[in-house]
Amino acid sequence: MDERLQELLRGVKEKKELQGLPDEFILPILETYLAKQAINIRTLRPQDQKFIVKEVRAKLRREVGMFYSSSKKRTKLLTAGDKEGVLLTHASTKERFPYYVELEGYVASLHPASILDLGCGLNPLALASPNIPYYALDVNAADVEIVKSYFERQHIPGWAKVADVQHLEKISLPDVDLCLSLKLFDILGGKNPGAVEKVLETVRCKVFLVSFPTITLSGKRMRRVQRTWFEKMTERLGFSIREVLRFPNEIFYLVQKSQ
Ligand SMILES: C[S@@+](CC[C@H](N)C(=O)[O-])C[C@H]1O[C@@H](n2cnc3c(N)ncnc32)[C@H](O)[C@@H]1O
Repeated sequence: MDERLQELLRGVKEKKELQGLPDEFILPILETYLAKQAINIRTLRPQDQKFIVKEVRAKLRREVGMFYSSSKKRTKLLTAGDKEGVLLTHASTKERFPYYVELEGYVASLHPASILDLGCGLNPLALASPNIPYYALDVNAADVEIVKSYFERQHIPGWAKVADVQHLEKISLPDVDLCLSLKLFDILGGKNPGAVEKVLETVRCKVFLVSFPTITLSGKRMRRVQRTWFEKMTERLGFSIREVLRFPNEIFYLVQKSQ
């Protein structure tokens, strides 16, 4: 790797909340940024370097880093058996916290014999149980460590892995009954709907439960809660939307893949 590129990468990862991200996840974002701005890495000035690091960090923070919480605090809560406390350390599980009983009931009503959770964050702590194999993946190693440790303590069959959903072909994925993709597809498909399409086509499952936030991170209600782009995509792929669930801050689509 070019030394200057390596230096930029190191600069980006100096921020604590981004240290759990694999280099392979950060590099394409860095390279795309350089290409878009037509920046020649060989003639980079130190002041440009600072600016690039700042811009790339901001993009990463929007995708993963803003869900960061100190891993020391989480480990302490987990060791004390305070699962609820851990769930409250992640923005997504915190927002969903008042509705987890309902969501758990809904997932149970689908009778899945196995679950795959993409971009899982800390959600597996709320939904996994010892009698159903649960496979969880996220690009953020800090979250995956917590999930792994929870699975070990609770004897949850399955695994928790660091992986990028844009490259699912690189890992061996199990065939599952239910695939969860909660609050992930806006991040993934924002600029590249093809990435979402690839996920929907690659995962082998009977149904997907896909959710999208309906409030912004600052708590404001979004103007458009329905994701028509996603509805059209599932139709184009020949999948059917079996049910739409609306929580006060999240919309869920149950998508049938196999007939
Ligand atoms: C909004 S959070 C949702 C977390 C969890 N699904 C939930 O709803 O509680 C988005 C999650 O997706 C993860 N993520 C973002 N891009 C990803 C990618 N390309 N591959 C895997 N995980 C990703 C982030 O690290 C973060 O944990």
